[in-house]
Amino acid sequence: MKGLILSGGKGTRLRPLTYTQAKQLVPVANKPILFYGIESLVEAGIKDIGIVVGDTHAEIREAVGSGSRWGAKITFVKQDEPLGLAHAVKISQGFLKKDPFVMYLGDNIIVGGVRKFAERFRKEKPNSQILLAHVPNPSEFGVAELSRGKVVRLVEKPKNPKSDLALVGVYLFDHNIFQAVNAIKPSRRGELEITDAIQYLVTKKFNVQSHIIDGWWKDTGKLEDMLEANRIILDSLHLDIRGSVDKNSKADFKVVVEKGAKIINSAIRGPAIIGKNARIVNSYVGPFTSIEHDVQLENVEIEHSIVLEHSRIQNIGTRISDSLIGKNVVIEPAPGRPESYQFLVGDNSSFKIH
Ligand code: TTP
Repeated sequence: MKGLILSGGKGTRLRPLTYTQAKQLVPVANKPILFYGIESLVEAGIKDIGIVVGDTHAEIREAVGSGSRWGAKITFVKQDEPLGLAHAVKISQGFLKKDPFVMYLGDNIIVGGVRKFAERFRKEKPNSQILLAHVPNPSEFGVAELSRGKVVRLVEKPKNPKSDLALVGVYLFDHNIFQAVNAIKPSRRGELEITDAIQYLVTKKFNVQSHIIDGWWKDTGKLEDMLEANRIILDSLHLDIRGSVDKNSKADFKVVVEKGAKIINSAIRGPAIIGKNARIVNSYVGPFTSIEHDVQLENVEIEHSIVLEHSRIQNIGTRISDSLIGKNVVIEPAPGRPESYQFLVGDNSSFKIH
């Protein structure tokens, strides 16, 4: 069995971050989201993995490398334009050949992994197995309608969803999926939809199994979902202090302080992670916060947030929460009078200020 991780796409919902970086490399608990997918496949015994890449191929290739660090062999498949999930499958036929495979969306995280689904697929050998989850907002997902446990219809982002069962970003297929992706036409938004390809399999009476998952799954394509994924992953941390915490500071419960990080006169209340060589001075880092490497915080209170590498935040009077702050960002008070906000902000940024 092979793996296929989709790591192209446009990432419009995560702008402005995705102007300068691949969304699949945004870290959750200081580890790129994409790595959770690779680890899930390897843990399910899948070591021959293709990664579909788009415009951000160079940085993804660099971050992932050959795969040897996971004991895996990674093959990159270049998608010239993000023409849909089924298009990504279509262009990967040369890599997948006749092998069954797990397709994994590179911005998704499934706690508990995919091992049991892969095992069931290997044993029962259906043509496809889809994973479903009950969601409160089905119109944002591909939605499945079941009748007596069998999939009867799949609709991409329906306006009036007939069920609350969303397609989770992990799908299992055998080679018959190529017949489907070659037969379907682009949807109104111009993409070859994986829901249409699976619908083709259902209509042609291929064996499409469904499995309603009970574990936690997140598509991190939006800010709130990214922060929630961060919250869930951080919650599984254990205390691990490799950096220095001075005697006037407190870092306990589920706190990780990576090598070279310095905590000075500060309180770190877990679950939280402080990256390598970060410097936290006179500050409070509250629960569910990931601070990446080389970040500097001084006189700051922050919680439920992710701060990416080399950013500097200092002397902010109000607590920062529910935020995703990019790389090399500087947030500090404007000097002198009159008291004012001064911004140099990229396109599609968003601020909420008291
Ligand atoms: P999406 O999140 O559905 O699409 P997107 O990345 O274009 O994001 P947005 O809707 O915010 O513009 O894609 C799910 C995953 O599949 C993601 O990791 C990107 C990847 N993908 C491809 O590799 N090729 C594609 O053609 C598409 C549409 C997505």
